[in-house]
Amino acid sequence: MDRIYLDYAATTPVDQQVLEAMLPYFSHEFGNPSSAHYYGQQADGAIEQARRTIKSLYNADGYDVIFTSGGSESDNLALRGAATEQRKRTGATKILTSSVEHDAITRTASQLQQKSGFIYAKLRVANNGIIDLSSLEEQLNKQVALVSIIYANNEIGSINPIKEAAKICHEKGILFHTDAVQAAAHLNIDLNGLDVDYMSISAHKLYGPKGVGVLFKKKFAPLLTQITGGAQESGLRAGTSNVPLIVGMAKALELNLESVETENIRLLSLRDQLITGVLENISGTHLTGDHTNRLSNHASFVFEGLSGNDLLIALDMAGFAVSSGSACKVGNPKPSEVLLGMGIKPELAIGSLRVTLGKFSKKEEIDRFITALPEIVNLLRKEKRSENGR
Ligand SMILES: Cc1ncc(COP(=O)(O)O)c(C=O)c1O
Repeated sequence: MDRIYLDYAATTPVDQQVLEAMLPYFSHEFGNPSSAHYYGQQADGAIEQARRTIKSLYNADGYDVIFTSGGSESDNLALRGAATEQRKRTGATKILTSSVEHDAITRTASQLQQKSGFIYAKLRVANNGIIDLSSLEEQLNKQVALVSIIYANNEIGSINPIKEAAKICHEKGILFHTDAVQAAAHLNIDLNGLDVDYMSISAHKLYGPKGVGVLFKKKFAPLLTQITGGAQESGLRAGTSNVPLIVGMAKALELNLESVETENIRLLSLRDQLITGVLENISGTHLTGDHTNRLSNHASFVFEGLSGNDLLIALDMAGFAVSSGSACKVGNPKPSEVLLGMGIKPELAIGSLRVTLGKFSKKEEIDRFITALPEIVNLLRKEKRSENGR
């Protein structure tokens, strides 16, 4: 079957140039970067070069680059490490996030509340999934240790005003983290200008390898290491560094930034063709997230009268790889917390679909998708109605 991949927000294939950059570090350049001899120094040189490249790509000379195993670990390190240290310094115990965060944030904050005595509060978002800066300001007080707000949402693509949110927090002396795992693939991020205290990114969302990410930390921002052991990453993340993956990540970020502007223009036009095609051809369908302030590759919908999981499976059988909400929700029949957090009713939220485009997406693929979808949706709705009638 001629399959069409429309799930680039879940993950992306490794770019050939990234693969080539990594290969030597799996074989002859195999040294442990902590070793003092020649082999170790070669590996260490590669890591420090990757760190310099990443700092310069993100205009991040005011930041430390901490290599991690990906977005989830970066989020965990930021939340656990910053909240714990800040509580020690100021006595503040509250962690405030938006109501539309990734599980790597919500589950970490919930666990910190349940097991470590923090208070976890959520900031409501508008029905386009974007935070309201004045309600953020209202919720800030001396009890808040850390605020974490997603840069661009993985399920609905909406982009938050992160620079403004960080500024509001800083005016009250509160630390600010953003999960930029989805945003990094499509936004040209200037960290010195953005001025957040911590930012998480992950390589596999932008044609790099899986299992590697970065936590950017503003110099002197507090952080307690969560993996203790050796002195790697300036003592903030122990464990022998994954040299090939780190080298691959730097290459992937470099290639991504080289093409991001032209690629965004191309993707925007495909995305809008897709959104219009779906909304015009299928009744009882709604776009989730903001109409314009969203990632260039991201389309997300809710369909009345069907289950998003059933739709995903039917589309997969027809050769289209899409997602219902986020990859982590596979097999989970509950409506997405993100959609509920935006005020969408559970019976509608259950019918969610995410279609995300990437560098191999073509107009013909969108045409085929728009042609196939109405019939599949009609069939599923008919089945659902007869199930309910039974
Ligand atoms: C917004 C967001 N944060 C965090 C993650 C987790 O990243 P990783 O898969 O690298 O652990 C993802 C992955 O889907 C994501 O979309």
